[in-house]
Formats: sequence, structure tokens, C-alpha cells
Amino acid sequence: MPRILDGNRVRDDIKSELKPRVDALAARGRPPGLAVVLVGHNPASEIYVRNKIKTCQDLGIFSESITPPDSISTAELLAIVESLNARPEIDGILVQLPLPPQIDSKRILMAVAPAKDVDGFHPCNVGALVANLPAPRACTPAGIIELLKRGGIAIAGRRAVIVGRSDIVGKPAAMLLLHEHATVTICHSKTPDLPAVCREADILVAAIGRPAMITRDFIRQGATVIDVGTNRIEDRGMVARIFRNSPEKLASFDKRGSLLVGDVDPIDVVERAGAYTPVPGGVGPLTIAMLMVNTVASAERRSGIC
Ligand code: GUN
Repeated sequence: MPRILDGNRVRDDIKSELKPRVDALAARGRPPGLAVVLVGHNPASEIYVRNKIKTCQDLGIFSESITPPDSISTAELLAIVESLNARPEIDGILVQLPLPPQIDSKRILMAVAPAKDVDGFHPCNVGALVANLPAPRACTPAGIIELLKRGGIAIAGRRAVIVGRSDIVGKPAAMLLLHEHATVTICHSKTPDLPAVCREADILVAAIGRPAMITRDFIRQGATVIDVGTNRIEDRGMVARIFRNSPEKLASFDKRGSLLVGDVDPIDVVERAGAYTPVPGGVGPLTIAMLMVNTVASAERRSGIC
């Protein structure tokens, strides 16, 4: 049986490490502060944001959510971001993606003050990532590195293959793995013979957003498989196929009306991998943990602690 890289455990460890830093900041005057901007009513985004706010509460981080309507314009959203940039008690600003189609997302992300950009999406921070200079790192990729390191998975000298070239996961994950001295390949929809490239990976990162796309023929025996996908499946037939008619999974689907599935085939990965992240409970919890790390680090920098 492969080793499970348990994201919930690593998240709890990181939260325990952060708590004294939050308390120290509070004792000096004020706790760290995070503002989350959630536009409209995307159900998945609403769940993510609720979990982010709850984790802030667990740690004693001040949090505020701003929830403008779907119809907001780019200019109005820019004004919200600029008002948060100007507030001294806000150390971190996160604008939940995706934004509605009328919004110029790049302009919004560029408007966030780089020192408060706890997502690591501002071009200044992306540049710092490429140059390997200290700056906030994108949370999901930073979480992947934590899972690997704390799970005792060697990175230096290993072949890492990333499937997916998004600005949020694929590209920054490639840079972080490169800085850890992996040999890195980024694949995408135009990559010829994707399974063959993936089979070269010691560390395979799946960040495509397609349920159970990475099957046994993509996974080298003994590889470490990191599944970034969180696909909510509402089709019972698809659940039956992906989980090979598992009575437990079908019962769970029947109870909830949907089921979360990663980008990696959940049965094949158990048969082929040496270690893997489950869905749920793998990468997901780390995204929020690293957001907390970035928020606390931002508060420390802004208060002159480091
Ligand atoms: N939507 C999905 N993942 C993320 C993330 O890491 N940050 C933001 N802002 N939006 C997201």
C-alpha cells in the first residue's frame, strides 16, 4: 500500500506553529488581519471563503469578508481593493477567483499592494518567485512543497512532471520545485504522448481540473502523486465508473447528491504510487494553511518583527 500524504495532519501542524506567532503579534498591539473579497455567489468559492474565515478565527487572526454582487464593475472592484490597501490593520488581501466575466481580473490582481498580496499573484511577487527572492508564494504550490518536505519525499535530483500550466498552480509549482532542485517538466493540453511524459515522473503533480484523468498508464510504479484537483461530480454513472461501483462511495453520493473527485484516478493511484495525496484531505487543507502563513508573515513584516 502506498503512503498517504495527509494534508489535514500537515495543516494542523502548521496551524500549531503559527499560533504563537499570531499571539506575539496580538500582544504587541494587534493580531494579523486578512480581508477576503468574494464577488457574487459561486458555490465552490463560497465554501473556500467560509473555510478561510473559519481558519482565521481558529488562529485568532482578524478577518473581514467583502461580498459585492456579481454585477460589480472593474472600477468598483478596484475601489474596494484600493480602500483595503490603505487600511493599516489589513495585512493580507485575497480576491477570490474566478471573477465574473465582465471583470478585468489581471487589473484587479495588479491593484493589490504587493506587500499585502497573500496569494502571491501580483507580478512583483511572481517576479520574486522566479528570482527566488523572499516574497509571498502562491498558496497551493507552497502547500505542495510543504506536503512533500514534511512527508519525507526527496525533491532534489528527482524528475517532477506537472500537468497543467495555470498561473495559480502549474507555473508557480514548477518554479518552486525547480528551486528545490528537481528537474521539472510542465505539460498541457498540447503535449504529445502525455502518459509517456508522466511516466517519467518521480513526482507527478496533477492540476488540470478534469476528474480522474490521470489513470494507471500515467503513473510510474512507486512515484509520488500530488492531486490538486477538486472536481465536484453530480453524475451518478460517473461516480460508479470512477470508483468501480464502490457501495460506500455510491451511498455517500446518494446521501449528498455529489462527490469530490481529484484529477487522479483514485483506484489506480493506490495500485501504482509510492505515496499520494487523497482527495479530499490532501492538497486542499494546505492551500488554506499557507494563506495563514502568508498573512502572518505579512503582518510580521509590516510590524517590523522581521
Ligand atoms: N481560486 C482557487 N484557488 C484560489 C487561490 O489560491 N486564491 C484565490 N484568490 N482564488 C482562488
